[in-house]
Amino acid sequence: MAFTFLYLDMLLPLGIAGGMPYIALILVGMWAISRKLIFFNAILGSVFTIAGFFLSPFNTDETVAAFNRGLTVATLWLTVYFSLMNLRLLEEKERSDLLEKANKQIEEESGYVELSRDIALFTNLSRSLGEAIEYSLRKICNFTGWPVGHLFLIGEDNKTLYPAGIWYLENEKKFKNFQEVTKKSRLEPGEGLPGRVMADGKSHFIFDLQSDLNFPRAGKPDQIEVASGLGFPIMIGDRTVGVMEFFSSDHVKPSERLMEVMDSIGVLLGRILERTRAEEAKEKHNIHLRQLYKRLDSIREEESRRMAREVHDNLGQVLTSLKIELSLLENILPEKKPAVDDSIKMMFNLIEKNIEVVRKISRELRPPVLDSLGIVEAINWQGTTFQEKTGVKFFLTDKTSKCNLDIKRSTTIFRIFQECLTNIVRHAEASEVHVDFYEDSESVIMQVRDNGQGINGHEVNSITSLGLLGMKERAEIWGGDFTVFGGSSQGTTVKIKIPKGS
Ligand SMILES: Nc1ncnc2c1ncn2[C@@H]1O[C@H](COP(=O)(O)OP(=O)(O)OP(=O)(O)O)[C@@H](O)[C@H]1O
Ligand SMILES: [Mg+2]
Repeated sequence: MAFTFLYLDMLLPLGIAGGMPYIALILVGMWAISRKLIFFNAILGSVFTIAGFFLSPFNTDETVAAFNRGLTVATLWLTVYFSLMNLRLLEEKERSDLLEKANKQIEEESGYVELSRDIALFTNLSRSLGEAIEYSLRKICNFTGWPVGHLFLIGEDNKTLYPAGIWYLENEKKFKNFQEVTKKSRLEPGEGLPGRVMADGKSHFIFDLQSDLNFPRAGKPDQIEVASGLGFPIMIGDRTVGVMEFFSSDHVKPSERLMEVMDSIGVLLGRILERTRAEEAKEKHNIHLRQLYKRLDSIREEESRRMAREVHDNLGQVLTSLKIELSLLENILPEKKPAVDDSIKMMFNLIEKNIEVVRKISRELRPPVLDSLGIVEAINWQGTTFQEKTGVKFFLTDKTSKCNLDIKRSTTIFRIFQECLTNIVRHAEASEVHVDFYEDSESVIMQVRDNGQGINGHEVNSITSLGLLGMKERAEIWGGDFTVFGGSSQGTTVKIKIPKGS
């Protein structure tokens, strides 16, 4: 091209215009985005322009010709300057476009990370599956801008999908029809959007729900108001246990990355589902155990009551009859020898002692004061007896106005108190025991405090501390609380709180 221009320069009296075509060479360099080519072509153009001065037969006025060619060379290098500037601008724009794209990608990626993190954090802390799913639906809908989110669960038959009734709806009125149709849906594997997800355990996407032949919920467009749909599985291991579905009002296609993120959220929710189901099963088991314990406790209590009655009525009766018979015998004996007299006295003594033992056994099995005078009097009686037997001083403070708990709750408190006293005599080495009774609007509280060697955390929490565990269980039967605390210089305190009940 340069030689053609030089050749033209030789043929025509072009003046300044003779050097101008070399500008095209520089523009070629710019088009090729090559600085080297621009410089090479500019140097070539300049050399040929100068060469033209010497070679062209038309340079009659040499001063004008030299001036013209000087101007041409200057124009050439001016073009080089502008081309280079332009190139720099182009490169800068390219760089900033790249930067913008990278920023956008980072922003999108951090959005996904934030979404997964928020869902992971919240679902981990949430107490129920419903709460976790509701939050996830709302978060995903807000993130994608899709107005409808819903959960299908797989039934116990492992075949049918049924709507779990957990929704996110941006506009309840608008999607009412779709919600109604969904509520009635029961889907088999492969059927509809959730059925497809269930069948192969993978995310599925339907661009146009209306024209899709396998979307049973599609009605006339104004009926369901949804255009595109995305479903992804909730997995426990490799088992699909539910399907989350999302719908948009316009036709949109989700990105591959979004589908990937949805899949990982599905695995996360699967874990939560597994955990909450295990917790539900554990809770059910605990309730059963507690009911069993309650039943056992009431049988034990009934048995004590029955034995107390039997011992008191039968054995007591027999001993009293024996006493009467003996005094009759004493009266009808004509002449008493001193030895017989002593023997009769001894028998009276023995009978009297046995009557006392029977009374004591019957009282210990079931103190009548508990049934007749109530819990505070029963505690007072038991504490005083304990003081007489062990020498540990007993103090009672009753701050309740009139503690009229029902007999079953009173029995629970009484039995816990007996267990406390047994522990004090066995482990505390205490010289005093203080019992405080008080109440709030809902509960009665008893605090048993000794001044002994105290209890440590290990003893409180040990799985072998069955006595303490039994006290806790007894209190929890009534929805109450049980706490034990203490230390070497402060003795041991047992505190129980029992709701008053209706
Ligand atoms: N009042 C107390 N003072 C000091 N230590 C105590 C007191 N009460 C309980 N402990 C400690 O707590 C442990 C657990 O008490 P817990 O009543 O559960 O079991 P236990 O009395 O050893 O046996 P049991 O099952 O017969 O009641 C005791 O072994 C004892 O070390
Ligand atoms: Mg004990």
